[in-house]
Amino acid sequence: MDKNQTIIKMTGIDFAYSENSPILKNLDFEFFKGDKVGIIAPNGSGKTTLFHLMMGLLTPSSGSIEIFGKPMKTEPDFAEIRHRIGLLFQDADDQLFCPTVLEDVSFGPLNMGKSRKEAIEISRRTLDFLGLSEFENRITFKLSGGEKKLVSLATVLSMEPEVLLLDEPLTGLDTKTRSTITMALKEMDVSYIIISHNIEFLKTTTRKTVTLRGGRLIADDQVHVHIHDHAHVHGDVPHKH
Ligand SMILES: Nc1ncnc2c1ncn2[C@@H]1O[C@H](COP(=O)(O)OP(=O)(O)OP(=O)(O)O)[C@@H](O)[C@H]1O
Ligand SMILES: [Mg+2]
Repeated sequence: MDKNQTIIKMTGIDFAYSENSPILKNLDFEFFKGDKVGIIAPNGSGKTTLFHLMMGLLTPSSGSIEIFGKPMKTEPDFAEIRHRIGLLFQDADDQLFCPTVLEDVSFGPLNMGKSRKEAIEISRRTLDFLGLSEFENRITFKLSGGEKKLVSLATVLSMEPEVLLLDEPLTGLDTKTRSTITMALKEMDVSYIIISHNIEFLKTTTRKTVTLRGGRLIADDQVHVHIHDHAHVHGDVPHKH
């Protein structure tokens, strides 16, 4: 596959939940294979909305979306690519719907046509990767908030997507679990976009950070200054900070 392959291309996107309060205005975005992008922007600026548009869960009032080089116009267009892009919902309760953890995690692979045996193998491997081996028989709705978030991530990863859209993956997680996820992301050979308010996390896991301003995505220079190692002359000694 071409390394510079465009995975997501959004052009001139307008979106509003109600006519008099536009959320996204003439937004352009291009995401390439191998990209690791962070989105950091204020509450209510439209980050989650943007992910839902990328997945075809919402429809823009104008503009176009291309995914893997194909124009996304109708629900069947999105249905065809959804298994290749894994969305981690901001709210885990939107993600989990099966009685037990193993059923939830194997739902995706089963739905993609894997045999029951294969689906369970993939699910166990994924749970193990996230340190959740003991969780498979737990009752989903009885999990704590943080546990639900982790199991949600397992349901996304078990589909072995090429692209991850992670909506605040660290919210509600303890320090150890946050570093488990950070390490997991660094190990994985996938393209991803992460929405987070945690600059340090984005600094470790992404190469580029953007923000939403006035309904458009723009490079976040402020974050950029923080997250990029750069040598510059300070006195006579070039150094990094
Ligand atoms: N289903 C909905 N119906 C009407 N308005 C909505 C709906 N979902 C979100 N909004 C509004 O759209 C705006 C953008 O919401 P969105 O969830 O995309 O923001 P966000 O950047 O993800 O915020 P946060 O950082 O709090 O998660 C908000 O003002 C929100 O109130
Ligand atoms: Mg959000």
